[in-house]
This record gives sequence, C-alpha cells and structure tokens, in this order.
Amino acid sequence: MSPAGGAAAALAGGGTAMAAAAQNAELTPRDFAAIAAIMQSDARIALSEAKTTLVQSRLARRLRENSLTRYSDYVALVQKDMAERARMVTALTTNHTHFFREPHHFDHFRSQVLPELKRKAAARQPVRIWSAGCSSGEEVYTIAMCLLGPDRTSATWLRNADVRLLATDIAPPVVEAAARGFYSDSIAAAVPEPYRSTWMRASGNGFVMADEARALVTARELNLFAAWPLKAAYDVIFCRNVMIYFDDAAKAELEARFVEQLAPGGHLYIGHSERLIGPAAARMRGCGQTIYVKDPAR
Ligand SMILES: C[S@@+](CC[C@H](N)C(=O)[O-])C[C@H]1O[C@@H](n2cnc3c(N)ncnc32)[C@H](O)[C@@H]1O
Repeated sequence: MSPAGGAAAALAGGGTAMAAAAQNAELTPRDFAAIAAIMQSDARIALSEAKTTLVQSRLARRLRENSLTRYSDYVALVQKDMAERARMVTALTTNHTHFFREPHHFDHFRSQVLPELKRKAAARQPVRIWSAGCSSGEEVYTIAMCLLGPDRTSATWLRNADVRLLATDIAPPVVEAAARGFYSDSIAAAVPEPYRSTWMRASGNGFVMADEARALVTARELNLFAAWPLKAAYDVIFCRNVMIYFDDAAKAELEARFVEQLAPGGHLYIGHSERLIGPAAARMRGCGQTIYVKDPAR
C-alpha cells in the first residue's frame, strides 16, 4: 500500500471508530432532559424518558456528522448553534404517513364536504384546505386526488376555480419531498385505482404526481406554534397524527387556533387516537369518527 493509501485507510478507520463511538454514545438523563427541553420549547414536542433509546438512535447521525462522540458535547453545540438545533428538531420528528391513511376521512370528505366546496367554487368563492403537519405530502395529494375525482372529466369543476391546498410541516426535508411530489413504487402502491393511473405518472423508479394535482398544492415550512401567515378562512383543516406528540396544553392551544382559522361550517379532521380538548371542544360539533364541524351557533 502507498503511504497515501495507508493514510487514507487510517483516516477511514478513524472515521469508522468515530461512527461506532457516536452510535454507542451514552445518553445520560441530564443530556436527555436538555434535549427534551429544546424539543418542548422549539416544537412543543413532548419527549418522555421512555423515548431515550429512540432519541439516541435518531441523533447518532447528528453526532457523527458533527464529529462528536459525547451527547454532552452535542447538547453544548445545539445550545449555541441554531442551525444544528433546527436539524436536531427535524431528526426527532416522526414523519410516518401514507396515501389514503384513515380512509373513512376521505369517504366523509368526498361525500359530505366536497359537494359544498364545489358549490362555493361555482359561486366564484375561494376554497382553502390545509394539511397541517403534512410530512412528505401523501396526505395533501390524497386530498388533491379526492378533489380531482376518479377521472379527468370529474376534475373539470376545478378549471378556473380558486381552490388551493396548503401543506405545511416543521421539518424541511419532508416539505421538500411534498413539493417534489415524487413517490417510490412501494409508496405509490397505496393509491387505489383509478386515482393512481389518472393522477400519477410513472417516472424513474416511482411515480410523480400529475401536474393537475401539483398545481393545487403549495408546500411550506411552518412550525404550528409560530405565527401563521394565513389570510383566508379555511374550509377544511387536516391535522392528523401530529397532536399526539404534544402535551395537553399545546393541543388545546393549537386546536383553539384551528377553530379560529376555520370558516363557519368548516371541517377539522384529526388522527384516530386524538380528541378535541379545551375551548375547541365547545365550539366544534362532532360529525363522524375524529371529524368536527365548526358550528356557527356555538
Ligand atoms: C406522523 S406525521 C403525520 C403526517 C400526516 N398528517 C398523516 O397523518 O399521515 C407528523 C408530522 O408532524 C410534524 N410536526 C411535528 N411537530 C410539528 C410542529 N410543531 N409544527 C409543524 N409540524 C410538526 C412532523 O414533522 C411530522 O412530519
């Protein structure tokens, strides 16, 4: 081996050793508490000590990328480096999602909500729908496909209509994925026919959303606990499998803001294990499994 080759191998060996050290770094209760406090203050995500192993496995890469082998050094870093702190928050989000998740919501949306949205659009009124905590976009494109309908003729009502779907998430990589609208074969397999053949087209080793679906969607980075740059009242808000990560005070605060953002008669869809608490519960009427309507009389 040449001297240069030997140095490279030694470096690579050093890198491997460091990677192993990052992987096995001990996360003490004190460092865990510091990380949990940042997650609470920056994203309102509540981490109990039961999540120690999960945090460790998700942050091993962050340690590696910063050439660190101790959590105490990583905690010191995120306390002064805001960009790394944001990357830590992203690494600790759970982004699991899939197309047509909790299908009863979309059955309700198509049968109970869509006719009114079509009536509004025909009357030249704006229609606004928000996927809050959208992850990589499967939820918002499922809504888009419900609006477009099963074939091209069912989409004609959208021509010249002012219909917009907003998709937001705190984690930049998933927002980029939602904006791209590209899904692997295995992910796209969850889209039932005829939606998939009508509104997705094969591209490389997967499928890309059709232009008609992408044209409806705007994907943006947004922390739900920051100010919302939303002017319009929303007809429908989907915030599903997001609030499970928050404590009750954060849930109540967020749900109350959703109610304020909804138009009278607007609908809110939440995840299967979630419920409305606080002031929102008094102002919304249940109209299906984890589906609520803003009752103008309340
Ligand atoms: C499990 S995914 C849910 C995706 C989709 N709504 C669904 O039900 O399939 C939860 C998403 O909420 C986002 N999230 C968590 N805390 C957030 C916050 N404070 N602001 C905005 N998004 C947040 C995460 O980044 C993640 O992508």
